[in-house]
Amino acid sequence: MTIAYPSSSLAAVSPPSGAPRPRLTFLGTGYLGATYAICFAELGYEVLGFDVDEPKIAKLAAGEVPFHEPGLDELLRKNLAAGRLRFTTSHEEVAEFGDVHMICVGTPQRADGMAADLSYVESAVTSLAPHLHRKALIVGKSTVPVGTAEWIEQLVRRHAPESSAVEVAWSPEFLQEGFAVEDVLRPNRVIFGVKSEWATAMLYAAHKGVFDLALNEDREVPVVVTDFATAELVKVAANAFLATKISFINAMAEVCEAAGADVTQLARSIGYDARIGNKFLRAGIGFGGGCLPKDIRAFQARAQELGVGEALRFLHEVDLINQRRRQRVVQLAAELLDRPYGPAGPDLSGIRVTVLGATFKPNSDDVRDSPALSVVRKLSRFGADVTVYDPEGMDLASKEVSDVTYKKSLVDAVSGAELVCVLTEWEEFRNADPKALGDLVAGRKVIDGRNCLDQGLWVSAGWEYRGMGRPVVQ
Ligand code: UDX
Repeated sequence: MTIAYPSSSLAAVSPPSGAPRPRLTFLGTGYLGATYAICFAELGYEVLGFDVDEPKIAKLAAGEVPFHEPGLDELLRKNLAAGRLRFTTSHEEVAEFGDVHMICVGTPQRADGMAADLSYVESAVTSLAPHLHRKALIVGKSTVPVGTAEWIEQLVRRHAPESSAVEVAWSPEFLQEGFAVEDVLRPNRVIFGVKSEWATAMLYAAHKGVFDLALNEDREVPVVVTDFATAELVKVAANAFLATKISFINAMAEVCEAAGADVTQLARSIGYDARIGNKFLRAGIGFGGGCLPKDIRAFQARAQELGVGEALRFLHEVDLINQRRRQRVVQLAAELLDRPYGPAGPDLSGIRVTVLGATFKPNSDDVRDSPALSVVRKLSRFGADVTVYDPEGMDLASKEVSDVTYKKSLVDAVSGAELVCVLTEWEEFRNADPKALGDLVAGRKVIDGRNCLDQGLWVSAGWEYRGMGRPVVQ
């Protein structure tokens, strides 16, 4: 069932706490939970954020967002001051306060394979459930293998007092780092996986702020009300599709490299067809981050378990194409520097290479499965003397890769470099003046791993330029 707006009967449910609007709790204040908690307080809800990590909760309670996300600090401080937003490490307090409990904990890739690790989800539910003495709705938001919501329902039945009649629902999130505030306040769709009218009504009430904001702005937020399994699959299917789109254009980049064509013009040309669309067709060093890579692997693992592994075999190829793009930078480096490329890889010993960008994408400090950092590791492994600069990601990057040099500015980083690799498309790099940078380096050679630089400008400033899937321009 898809409806644009809730009927008045759905919006008029009374929250079990007796409060006029449902009180919301968010369990897990990582990237997802903290952003949701802060944004829903901004929408006017009374919100309690929970985490087992005491220092993280102390930071949030003091008005400090523990990660970089544009616009979020300001909203955190505003809503703390307004008294709508609080943070705690107590399950009792969460249970006592909340009507709707959103599970926002991480589901990382398991160390022993491709499947998702559900231990944080399990612990969030089994630690909260015994304290739930009145009716409440537990809503899963974390990205999980299909079937998890049913399992959570069983956990709740086992661990919550029977009299509480706690219910479960699933409502996946689609926020993108760097645009997270906007994605939560103004989502392009909302999915409710439910089993009862009461759960549907509570979810509507818990999202009324989102719908009201849309009405004020003359927008519509489509709502899809569906079953648990479909709601769970929506998230992984969306991420699988996005990953496939990126790998498709990167596969085209490989063909363009062999045929002497330009993938950026190819992408532009096919993107004009509305059936294809021009988004997520940027060829480069591929996708990374805390979601797409692990989600396509967990999806394959779950499909295997369900006996339909073959249906998702293409996702293995999507992963391989993505990994090959990282190696391509190393090939281009050897080519540009005229270094031999043996069976074990190139010999880059003694070459000073500056890598601009460490995060998996711009406007984020997240380096999880970052293609840029993976290339840094490879360059260093093949003997290059690597210097890295990133506007926001240096702290986290230096914890991941410690045996390279980090510089605090673009100018410091490129000084004396024999090769510059732009691997995250930060505005600072896109707008850098190639003439001025050319005076600082030891060799004007650049690899544009994100096809984000103005090729003509760099070439006319005397740089030897190599893009991804683009012909060589002299
Ligand atoms: C993604 C989904 O977009 C989001 O809906 C979901 O909730 C979580 O996962 P995110 O991980 O924040 O969000 O990043 P996204 O903007 O999707 O980019 C993922 C990776 O793909 C980045 O490394 C980015 O550089 C790369 N990318 C993206 C490309 O290489 N080419 C593109 O055209 C688009």
